[in-house]
Amino acid sequence: MSLFSKTIANISLNEITASLPNPYPYRELLFLTIKNILGPLKLNRDIVSFLPKKTVLNNILRVEHRLGFLGDIMDTHGYPFHVDPSIQEFFLDTDLVIGNLEGIITHLPKPLFALSHTEKIIEALSRIQSPEQIALCVSNNHSSDFGHKAFQDSVNILSNNGLKIFGTKKSPSYMHTQRINIVGASMWSNKKNCSYITRFDETGQHLSKKPGCFNIFFPHWGYEIELWPRPEIIRLGYSLLDDWDMIFGHHSHVPQPITAVPKGHTNKLLAYSGGDLVTGIRFQKYRYGMIAKCTIGPIETSPESLAVGSVEWMFTHVEQCLSSKPNKRGQSGFMVKTTPSCRYFRSI
Ligand SMILES: [Fe+2]
Repeated sequence: MSLFSKTIANISLNEITASLPNPYPYRELLFLTIKNILGPLKLNRDIVSFLPKKTVLNNILRVEHRLGFLGDIMDTHGYPFHVDPSIQEFFLDTDLVIGNLEGIITHLPKPLFALSHTEKIIEALSRIQSPEQIALCVSNNHSSDFGHKAFQDSVNILSNNGLKIFGTKKSPSYMHTQRINIVGASMWSNKKNCSYITRFDETGQHLSKKPGCFNIFFPHWGYEIELWPRPEIIRLGYSLLDDWDMIFGHHSHVPQPITAVPKGHTNKLLAYSGGDLVTGIRFQKYRYGMIAKCTIGPIETSPESLAVGSVEWMFTHVEQCLSSKPNKRGQSGFMVKTTPSCRYFRSI
């Protein structure tokens, strides 16, 4: 065997995987490739149940907050994205909308598999809610795609435009009106040892112990292109809800169930994934998401504590605008709309 072939033989699949911008061990990367070819995985079907699209989780004495939640805001490959009035209407009565920005704002050349946005993403998001009423998580597997400086520049651009940013090492959380503590963290990173985003295993440190404070965990977790959460993610969610008041997750690129978990005298909200709000990926499997909103107020049975009152959610779908090439006024690209059904959950 030549020295070259010996060297090649000694390179393990894990070493190859580690050299790619990818968060997974090689088996998981291979599995993701198969899911991309065959379509979203239906394993663990009905392992948990979707809440009705309009429901009441707890009886609250009054509404103190109305919070909205978005799926992943993905790279639109340079095309603008438009927001249908059905989305605007849904969030009209919210005082804060919370989402995950997958990738960063940068004009640097894009490495393989990296995600980036231009400043136009802020304008697009402002059609959902005013920038001051949007809280964006920047902790996800794509935060590290362009390195620390570019990440920090992106955070500065977003903050300077009024958006509330959380999920960084320096600012793991955003405190809304002194009562709602929102913490973002990523289970995954495309580059190992990314030190400038909130670490998933340290998020307990960022729980607010302030009496009467409502703690929301907004994790980038679970597995891509899977319609149902794996049992270990369900167990993790249930145990996190011993401390957190609700969880809204992201990363799967397809919507996953939004559920209720009884804990003591409270029904807690656990949404496994909001799917994709918007993406430039042309495969239909990447184009479904979920938006949700809930009211929060003092719970009848224990008025010193805040709890979720009503919950409302809808599936969303990204549609191609007629022309894929933007004209001078930017009137093309992608349109995100609410949709009464999702092709992957026909009975919901
Ligand atoms: Fe992700």
